[in-house]
Amino acid sequence: MTKTSGTQENGTKRIAVIPGDGAGVDVTAETVKVLEAATAASGRKLELEHFDWSADRYLRDGTTLPEGASKMLVDRFDAILFGALGDPRVKDNRHAADILLGLRFQLDLYVNARPCELLDARLTPLRDRTERDLDFMIFRENTEGLYVNIGGVFKRGTPDEVAVQEQINTRKGVERILRHGYEYARRKKLTRFCMTDKSNALPHGHGLWQRVFAELKTQYPEIESRHLYVDALAAELVRDPSQFQVIVAPNLLGDILSDLGAQLIGGMGVAPSGNIHPGRIGLFEPVHGSAPKIAGKNLANPIGSVLSSAMMLEEIGFPEEAAVIREAVRASVREGKTTTDLGGSMGTREVGDWLADYVARHGVKR
Ligand code: IPM
Ligand code: MN
Repeated sequence: MTKTSGTQENGTKRIAVIPGDGAGVDVTAETVKVLEAATAASGRKLELEHFDWSADRYLRDGTTLPEGASKMLVDRFDAILFGALGDPRVKDNRHAADILLGLRFQLDLYVNARPCELLDARLTPLRDRTERDLDFMIFRENTEGLYVNIGGVFKRGTPDEVAVQEQINTRKGVERILRHGYEYARRKKLTRFCMTDKSNALPHGHGLWQRVFAELKTQYPEIESRHLYVDALAAELVRDPSQFQVIVAPNLLGDILSDLGAQLIGGMGVAPSGNIHPGRIGLFEPVHGSAPKIAGKNLANPIGSVLSSAMMLEEIGFPEEAAVIREAVRASVREGKTTTDLGGSMGTREVGDWLADYVARHGVKR
């Protein structure tokens, strides 16, 4: 499953839209509005097709990720716009693991790019920090580590119960995510690179990270390479986030750090992400989950999803549409046209309308 083949002759790109559950559905609807406004303004075309893979579908007919779904997506689409999964009726969240982790693994989306960029100084809970201090990228390894679901339970339900959860670290896997981080830094002329792990406690698995890192860093002499154990990195991110530009982390550590990063820039509602394998179809989703408590109430912040769609547009070669969408989001935050989590008084739909209208008014410069 290499090259995406969704692209049409006329340059139209095809997007698979998977809203999922709860707030995922709410925010994705607004992102679709904004995408439609951007392409209407630029004259380029996106063809969107919705898929109902969700808790509802799972509870209705037992389907999580349908048989052959990954191949179908690769064959027919250029990118995937994803909402969120998770539903209190599905206690073990089986559908979420099958669909989201299934797609990450089956499509080999080894880069989970989670930018932490402060849009407005008022949004950070850190004292005296401004936009200049908070702008870093977390590259989370996305196909190995503790997420591989290898393990088992012995003597289940007895006092002697044993649970084993293995983690996988491969030379190839570690090298490709570190290289991705370095190449990104080089391309963007960023000089501060930090690799994080917990090799002091996990000498085998994360020892491999250390060894691959030691080899790779010599190939990027213009970049200042630094290592921090993940606990120290968490502390430093709060004390002085301006030290960081590019962070590369193993899967679970990157998961945790990206929630910390999201809070530093204004909360879970604003953080975007892209699950990427360069040159192949990618999956773009807000970092937040399905937020059952606020789902369906016109309360969820659509910005994380809207910014994820901007990452998607860049990836599929629509950078001008991405730029105006980012500009719209910035303007909305600056002008207080936001949902209540950011101190505004608008609903999910009103923010979506405002952003779509901004994009329509400003147009797309190509
Ligand atoms: C995320 C989420 C997922 C993860 C869950 C839903 C499995 O927390 O995308 O960060 O841990 O990767
Ligand atoms: Mn997470």
